[in-house]
Amino acid sequence: MVKIAPSMLSADFARLQEEIKNIELSGADLLHIDIMDGHFVPNLTFGAPVIKSLRKHTALPFDVHLMVTNPADYVKAFADIGTEYFTFHAEATPHMHRLVQEIKSYGMKAGVSLNPSTPVAMLEDIAADLDMILIMSVNPGFGGQSFIPHAVRKIKKAKALFDYYENSNGVVEVDGGVNLETAPLVREAGADILVAGSAVFGAPDRAEMIRSLRG
Ligand code: DX5
Ligand code: ZN
Repeated sequence: MVKIAPSMLSADFARLQEEIKNIELSGADLLHIDIMDGHFVPNLTFGAPVIKSLRKHTALPFDVHLMVTNPADYVKAFADIGTEYFTFHAEATPHMHRLVQEIKSYGMKAGVSLNPSTPVAMLEDIAADLDMILIMSVNPGFGGQSFIPHAVRKIKKAKALFDYYENSNGVVEVDGGVNLETAPLVREAGADILVAGSAVFGAPDRAEMIRSLRG
Protein backbone atom coordinates (compact mmCIF):
# COMPACT_ATOMS: atom_id res chain seq x y z
CA MET A 1 0.00 0.00 0.00
CA VAL A 2 1.42 3.40 -0.95
CA LYS A 3 1.78 6.13 1.66
CA ILE A 4 0.32 9.61 1.29
CA ALA A 5 2.28 12.71 2.33
CA PRO A 6 0.13 15.86 2.08
CA SER A 7 2.23 18.94 1.34
CA MET A 8 1.81 21.68 3.92
CA LEU A 9 2.43 24.22 1.15
CA SER A 10 -1.28 24.09 0.28
CA ALA A 11 -2.49 24.54 3.88
CA ASP A 12 -4.07 27.73 5.23
CA PHE A 13 -0.96 29.25 6.86
CA ALA A 14 -3.05 31.36 9.25
CA ARG A 15 -4.44 28.13 10.77
CA LEU A 16 -1.46 25.80 10.51
CA GLN A 17 -1.98 23.93 13.79
CA GLU A 18 -5.60 23.04 12.92
CA GLU A 19 -4.71 22.20 9.33
CA ILE A 20 -1.99 19.74 10.36
CA LYS A 21 -4.25 18.11 12.96
CA ASN A 22 -6.97 17.80 10.33
CA ILE A 23 -4.59 16.11 7.89
CA GLU A 24 -3.45 13.69 10.58
CA LEU A 25 -7.05 12.78 11.49
CA SER A 26 -7.80 12.37 7.78
CA GLY A 27 -5.32 9.48 7.61
CA ALA A 28 -2.11 11.04 6.23
CA ASP A 29 1.02 8.90 6.67
CA LEU A 30 3.62 11.69 6.70
CA LEU A 31 3.63 15.49 6.60
CA HIS A 32 5.52 16.81 3.55
CA ILE A 33 7.24 20.08 4.38
CA ASP A 34 8.54 22.24 1.51
CA ILE A 35 11.40 24.54 2.50
CA MET A 36 12.20 27.13 -0.20
CA ASP A 37 14.90 29.79 -0.03
CA GLY A 38 14.19 32.13 -2.96
CA HIS A 39 17.53 31.11 -4.56
CA PHE A 40 17.32 27.45 -5.52
CA VAL A 41 13.68 28.06 -6.44
CA PRO A 42 11.92 31.36 -7.12
CA ASN A 43 9.73 31.24 -4.02
CA LEU A 44 9.98 31.51 -0.23
CA THR A 45 8.10 29.43 2.33
CA PHE A 46 8.94 28.83 5.98
CA GLY A 47 11.98 27.75 7.98
CA ALA A 48 12.91 25.63 10.96
CA PRO A 49 11.32 27.87 13.66
CA VAL A 50 7.86 27.50 12.10
CA ILE A 51 8.28 23.74 11.73
CA LYS A 52 9.57 23.44 15.29
CA SER A 53 6.42 25.10 16.60
CA LEU A 54 4.32 22.40 14.88
CA ARG A 55 6.25 19.40 16.17
CA LYS A 56 4.36 19.18 19.46
CA HIS A 57 0.96 19.35 17.75
CA THR A 58 1.22 16.24 15.58
CA ALA A 59 2.58 12.70 15.69
CA LEU A 60 3.00 12.61 11.89
CA PRO A 61 6.58 11.92 10.73
CA PHE A 62 8.12 15.04 9.17
CA ASP A 63 9.14 14.57 5.52
CA VAL A 64 11.25 17.66 4.91
CA HIS A 65 11.99 18.61 1.28
CA LEU A 66 14.67 21.29 1.08
CA MET A 67 14.65 23.34 -2.09
CA VAL A 68 17.62 25.47 -0.99
CA THR A 69 21.12 26.19 -2.29
CA ASN A 70 22.89 25.30 0.99
CA PRO A 71 21.09 22.26 2.42
CA ALA A 72 24.02 21.31 4.70
CA ASP A 73 23.39 24.47 6.74
CA TYR A 74 20.04 23.11 7.98
CA VAL A 75 20.85 19.51 8.94
CA LYS A 76 21.28 20.17 12.65
CA ALA A 77 18.22 22.41 12.94
CA PHE A 78 15.91 19.80 11.42
CA ALA A 79 17.52 16.95 13.36
CA ASP A 80 16.90 18.88 16.61
CA ILE A 81 13.23 19.39 15.71
CA GLY A 82 12.63 15.68 15.09
CA THR A 83 12.66 14.93 11.36
CA GLU A 84 12.15 11.52 9.74
CA TYR A 85 13.33 12.27 6.18
CA PHE A 86 15.77 15.08 5.34
CA THR A 87 15.70 15.38 1.54
CA PHE A 88 17.91 17.78 -0.41
CA HIS A 89 18.33 18.37 -4.15
CA ALA A 90 21.10 16.65 -6.13
CA GLU A 91 21.46 19.90 -8.11
CA ALA A 92 22.20 21.88 -4.94
CA THR A 93 25.52 20.29 -3.94
CA PRO A 94 28.57 18.63 -5.52
CA HIS A 95 29.04 16.72 -2.22
CA MET A 96 26.06 14.39 -2.02
CA HIS A 97 28.03 11.62 -0.33
CA ARG A 98 29.31 13.82 2.48
CA LEU A 99 25.89 15.36 3.10
CA VAL A 100 24.11 11.98 3.13
CA GLN A 101 26.54 10.67 5.77
CA GLU A 102 26.04 13.80 7.85
CA ILE A 103 22.24 13.53 7.74
CA LYS A 104 22.46 9.90 8.84
CA SER A 105 24.93 10.71 11.62
CA TYR A 106 22.13 12.78 13.17
CA GLY A 107 19.79 9.78 13.06
CA MET A 108 17.63 11.06 10.19
CA LYS A 109 16.81 9.24 6.98
CA ALA A 110 18.53 10.73 3.93
CA GLY A 111 16.73 11.53 0.70
CA VAL A 112 17.86 13.06 -2.59
CA SER A 113 15.46 14.85 -4.91
CA LEU A 114 15.82 15.20 -8.68
CA ASN A 115 14.46 18.05 -10.79
CA PRO A 116 12.58 17.00 -13.95
CA SER A 117 15.71 17.48 -16.11
CA THR A 118 18.12 15.59 -13.82
CA PRO A 119 18.66 11.91 -14.72
CA VAL A 120 18.23 9.10 -12.18
CA ALA A 121 21.66 7.83 -13.32
CA MET A 122 23.18 10.68 -11.31
CA LEU A 123 22.36 8.64 -8.18
CA GLU A 124 23.98 5.37 -9.28
CA ASP A 125 26.93 5.68 -6.94
CA ILE A 126 25.01 6.99 -3.92
CA ALA A 127 21.78 4.93 -4.09
CA ALA A 128 23.08 2.25 -1.72
CA ASP A 129 23.36 4.92 0.98
CA LEU A 130 19.97 6.54 0.38
CA ASP A 131 16.71 6.05 2.26
CA MET A 132 14.68 7.90 -0.37
CA ILE A 133 14.78 9.11 -3.96
CA LEU A 134 12.30 11.94 -4.53
CA ILE A 135 11.27 12.28 -8.17
CA MET A 136 9.96 15.76 -8.96
CA SER A 137 7.03 15.57 -11.35
CA VAL A 138 6.85 19.39 -11.61
CA ASN A 139 9.55 22.05 -11.56
CA PRO A 140 9.97 22.81 -7.86
CA GLY A 141 8.80 26.12 -6.43
CA PHE A 142 5.02 26.13 -6.45
CA GLY A 143 2.05 23.95 -5.63
CA GLY A 144 -0.81 23.38 -8.06
CA GLN A 145 1.23 22.74 -11.25
CA SER A 146 0.54 20.07 -13.87
CA PHE A 147 2.17 16.64 -13.68
CA ILE A 148 5.07 16.07 -16.13
CA PRO A 149 4.43 12.57 -17.61
CA HIS A 150 8.13 11.73 -18.05
CA ALA A 151 8.33 11.35 -14.24
CA VAL A 152 6.66 7.93 -14.58
CA ARG A 153 9.73 6.51 -16.34
CA LYS A 154 12.02 8.04 -13.74
CA ILE A 155 10.06 6.41 -10.90
CA LYS A 156 10.61 3.03 -12.57
CA LYS A 157 14.33 3.74 -12.96
CA ALA A 158 14.66 4.80 -9.32
CA LYS A 159 12.87 1.62 -8.18
CA ALA A 160 15.22 -0.47 -10.35
CA LEU A 161 18.22 1.30 -8.89
CA PHE A 162 17.16 0.45 -5.32
CA ASP A 163 16.30 -3.12 -6.37
CA TYR A 164 19.84 -3.55 -7.69
CA TYR A 165 21.12 -3.16 -4.11
CA GLU A 166 19.54 -6.16 -2.41
CA ASN A 167 19.78 -4.81 1.14
CA SER A 168 18.32 -1.43 0.29
CA ASN A 169 15.33 -0.11 2.25
CA GLY A 170 15.12 2.89 -0.06
CA VAL A 171 11.72 4.26 -1.00
CA VAL A 172 10.68 6.24 -4.06
CA GLU A 173 8.58 9.34 -3.51
CA VAL A 174 6.90 11.43 -6.21
CA ASP A 175 6.08 15.10 -5.79
CA GLY A 176 4.05 17.50 -7.94
CA GLY A 177 0.72 17.37 -9.73
CA VAL A 178 -0.39 14.16 -8.02
CA ASN A 179 -4.19 13.93 -8.11
CA LEU A 180 -6.89 11.34 -8.80
CA GLU A 181 -5.93 11.25 -12.48
CA THR A 182 -2.16 10.87 -12.08
CA ALA A 183 -2.01 8.79 -8.87
CA PRO A 184 -2.76 5.47 -10.64
CA LEU A 185 0.14 6.12 -13.07
CA VAL A 186 2.69 6.69 -10.32
CA ARG A 187 1.39 3.81 -8.19
CA GLU A 188 1.68 1.53 -11.19
CA ALA A 189 5.26 2.73 -11.79
CA GLY A 190 6.15 1.64 -8.26
CA ALA A 191 6.13 4.85 -6.19
CA ASP A 192 6.07 4.14 -2.44
CA ILE A 193 5.07 7.62 -1.22
CA LEU A 194 2.82 10.09 -3.03
CA VAL A 195 3.08 13.78 -2.11
CA ALA A 196 -0.14 15.70 -2.73
CA GLY A 197 -0.67 19.35 -1.88
CA SER A 198 -3.56 20.98 -3.70
CA ALA A 199 -5.36 17.65 -4.27
CA VAL A 200 -5.61 16.92 -0.53
CA PHE A 201 -5.95 20.40 0.99
CA GLY A 202 -8.38 21.49 -1.71
CA ALA A 203 -10.63 18.45 -1.37
CA PRO A 204 -14.06 18.86 0.25
CA ASP A 205 -13.44 15.54 2.06
CA ARG A 206 -9.73 15.16 2.75
CA ALA A 207 -10.01 11.68 4.30
CA GLU A 208 -11.81 10.42 1.23
CA MET A 209 -9.20 12.02 -1.05
CA ILE A 210 -6.32 10.38 0.87
CA ARG A 211 -8.06 6.99 0.62
CA SER A 212 -8.66 7.43 -3.11
CA LEU A 213 -5.06 8.49 -3.80
CA ARG A 214 -3.90 5.29 -2.07
CA GLY A 215 -6.00 3.32 -4.55
C1 DX5 B 1 6.68 21.88 -5.30
C2 DX5 B 1 6.63 21.20 -3.97
C3 DX5 B 1 5.49 20.27 -3.84
C4 DX5 B 1 4.15 20.91 -3.95
C5 DX5 B 1 3.17 19.90 -4.47
O1 DX5 B 1 7.82 22.64 -5.39
O2 DX5 B 1 7.81 20.48 -3.74
O3 DX5 B 1 5.59 19.51 -2.65
O4 DX5 B 1 3.67 21.43 -2.76
O5 DX5 B 1 1.94 20.54 -4.69
P1 DX5 B 1 0.85 19.93 -5.66
O6 DX5 B 1 0.49 18.56 -5.12
O7 DX5 B 1 -0.27 20.90 -5.56
O8 DX5 B 1 1.46 19.84 -7.03
ZN1 ZN C 1 7.88 18.95 -2.05
